[in-house]
Amino acid sequence: MDNDWDIFISRFEALSKIDLKSYKRPQMERRINSFMRSVNADNYSSFINILKTNREIYRKFLDHITINVSEFFRNSNQWETLEKQIIPELLKDNKKLKIWSAGCSTGEEAYSLAMMCSERHINLSESILATDIDNEVLDKAGLGIYSEKAVQSMPPTYLKKYFVAEGNYYQIKDNIKQMVRFRQQDLLKDSFERGFNLILCRNVVIYFTEESKQRLYRKFCDALRPRGVLFIGSTEQIFQARELGLQSIATFFYQKT
Ligand SMILES: C[S@@+](CC[C@H](N)C(=O)[O-])C[C@H]1O[C@@H](n2cnc3c(N)ncnc32)[C@H](O)[C@@H]1O
Repeated sequence: MDNDWDIFISRFEALSKIDLKSYKRPQMERRINSFMRSVNADNYSSFINILKTNREIYRKFLDHITINVSEFFRNSNQWETLEKQIIPELLKDNKKLKIWSAGCSTGEEAYSLAMMCSERHINLSESILATDIDNEVLDKAGLGIYSEKAVQSMPPTYLKKYFVAEGNYYQIKDNIKQMVRFRQQDLLKDSFERGFNLILCRNVVIYFTEESKQRLYRKFCDALRPRGVLFIGSTEQIFQARELGLQSIATFFYQKT
């Protein structure tokens, strides 16, 4: 079985460029096995053949393992800390901020940042970078069209000010859209831009192995400016932050020392 698994992940990497070795095996294997059952694949070898030949199943499988759920202003109390404590702290040293939403999924996080910056007149040195491994979610993010359900967590004033209602859908306005640039990127393999004041990487590393998380946090640290801040997800914690050159300044916020 071990051998089958190894063969599967290497064939899957050849197909998708996603390296499943960097994700926690038990969780990943459970997710993959449940998906295999749903498409009646008895073993990894027949499953990989299905993925190669059936575009729709391949797509569903990517959704299943990357888990693209997102929300505007997800965990609103942390956004309040961001707005009231972290951003003013960053603005003490910098007139303009460079910001990155890493693992942005369908764009809710990046657009939340853009709306917050617009609302608070926070100057950006360049458009907000928003990246994800998955091209399909990036296409949706670029369209900026959201269902009623997707915008329900939004403060009503923001919805009114920054969206245009079209039937049951809401389209983000162009001035907010233009504040964000979406790019495809694998956080585990690709190189990073530098000079960020603020990086958000939230709800992305849940299935990464400890080793790949540490490697990623080190790369984020290199991409931050001195005193720049990394904002992580509400179930996450950075162990050995100090060794990485990071210091916790509020729950879920780490500053480069
Ligand atoms: C649950 S969503 C998080 C979206 C947003 N950050 C939030 O908190 O609402 C996780 C995203 O991470 C992306 N992701 C997973 N592995 C990745 C990798 N190696 N590189 C870049 N993005 C990755 C997935 O495609 C998915 O869109």
